Amino acid sequence: MDSPILDLAGITLEVNHLPRGVRFYTHLFGLDLTRHDDDKGVAEFRVNDSQSLTLWKPITRRKNDERLGKLRARGASHLHFAWQVQEADLERCKTILDAYDVHWTELDLGTPERPDRTLYFYDPFGHGLELRGVNLSDERQPTFPPKPTERSAHALPVIGLREAAIGFSDYDAMKERLPRAYGFCFVKEQDDRDFAQFVLSPRPELDGDGTPQRWLYCWDPQIGLADMHGGDHATLKFYADVDAVARRVAQAGLEHGHDDLGLVVRDPEGHVFEFVHP
Ligand SMILES: [Fe+2]
Repeated sequence: MDSPILDLAGITLEVNHLPRGVRFYTHLFGLDLTRHDDDKGVAEFRVNDSQSLTLWKPITRRKNDERLGKLRARGASHLHFAWQVQEADLERCKTILDAYDVHWTELDLGTPERPDRTLYFYDPFGHGLELRGVNLSDERQPTFPPKPTERSAHALPVIGLREAAIGFSDYDAMKERLPRAYGFCFVKEQDDRDFAQFVLSPRPELDGDGTPQRWLYCWDPQIGLADMHGGDHATLKFYADVDAVARRVAQAGLEHGHDDLGLVVRDPEGHVFEFVHP
């Protein structure tokens, strides 16, 4: 049966200093700041036509977002997440990171015949970021395909959010729950570590080799490649067939809220997933 999950819509990060976060993501990434509310501790950026990045600074006795706050949502701590860039732009990204004095590490996740290069670095809050080359003409397309984007020549030429990697202390329960209780589409597991890959798309497709698809990676509390942590108490937003996810969530008995904007669910491990209509 097809998965009701259609694509990755947004990622929310926890930060301890909102202006520093706004500077980092505005200058280095050239993202448009669509909202900056110091009183609420919220900054929102537009990544492209379909995806957003949100920063939340926790503030006592106030919620960053009333609706998500009902489920005690927090921004992710030490989240590993990846951005999509065109493969031809990866070399230029190194120069831009150097200009901002951001230390990066390069890995090749492909093969000698088909390299799949990727750059890793950290933001000022301990989130582990990655720039992954994508091939825009690949057959494996997400619901909202990334497109070339105009950005400042001094900013990283990112075109979309690619993946979020989050941690689960009970890995086996996660592996059973995510497909059953939400409908996430499991693709594969790593041989050498507890690391499950879910494609954010109705049908299973393989990862790698420049795919423009979006991904949810779930692992136990391990340090992955390039010393990247999976996020704790992550808040992630997905495009989905909301009613289909809602039926699963209700049957699984998970804590949730459902309104005109969509469905918000608190996972037993403290992550909060928001599902919205495409
Ligand atoms: Fe990654």
